[in-house]
Amino acid sequence: MKFLLDTFSPEAVRNTLEYFPIEGVTTNPAIICREHAPLKPVLLELRELLAGKMLHVQTLQTTADDMIKEAIALKNLLSRTEGDFFVKLPAVKEGLKACRELKQLGVGVTMTAVFSPAQALICARAGADFVAPYVNKLDDAGDGENCVSETVKLFGIFGLKTKVLSASFRNVSQVRRIALSGSHYITLPAAFYEKLISHPMTEMAIEGFKNDWNTEYGNKLPLDML
Ligand code: E4P
Repeated sequence: MKFLLDTFSPEAVRNTLEYFPIEGVTTNPAIICREHAPLKPVLLELRELLAGKMLHVQTLQTTADDMIKEAIALKNLLSRTEGDFFVKLPAVKEGLKACRELKQLGVGVTMTAVFSPAQALICARAGADFVAPYVNKLDDAGDGENCVSETVKLFGIFGLKTKVLSASFRNVSQVRRIALSGSHYITLPAAFYEKLISHPMTEMAIEGFKNDWNTEYGNKLPLDML
């Protein structure tokens, strides 16, 4: 499973890229609004920060024709190399129509707000590069893990190339379960990456190594002794 960052904050992108193996950034209208920032300059800044990594940006349009227009404008603004831009379209009828046409035009598509394996399957057949099930929202209403594992299984049965990009997480346990379900990608907010790597036992182990070393060699570091 590969990791993406769910954000519209250039600072979060800078900080997270420095430490974590991130394949790109996803965003959505709610995340954009939370930053209270101007759209175009921040999108361009994200593009520069990410270099050739993936950037997924959602359209707010509701008809296929308008989705296509917005997707092309976004791609023209934000794509520099093959596979570095994906427009996010909602998993509805108009989104499916737009997906099929955009794929003919060579635009990458992520179908988002997916809540069932059946939705995911039809989106994949429409040519979507990614489908994004909302795990925590599904957990609230039922079972996010089941949706992801059945979707992965269906894509395998039918040999579909579409990748599952799971979104909407609240805890590390959900991440573990979704990884075991075979999700190809997940997207998480920046703070989540700290939670993934942190463990109190790791801190205790490091303290133990330091104490043993100090007892034997005092303040001398291995580097001083090489
Ligand atoms: C998808 O674009 C987002 O990752 C998703 O909406 C986040 O879901 P949340 O609002 O449950 O965090």
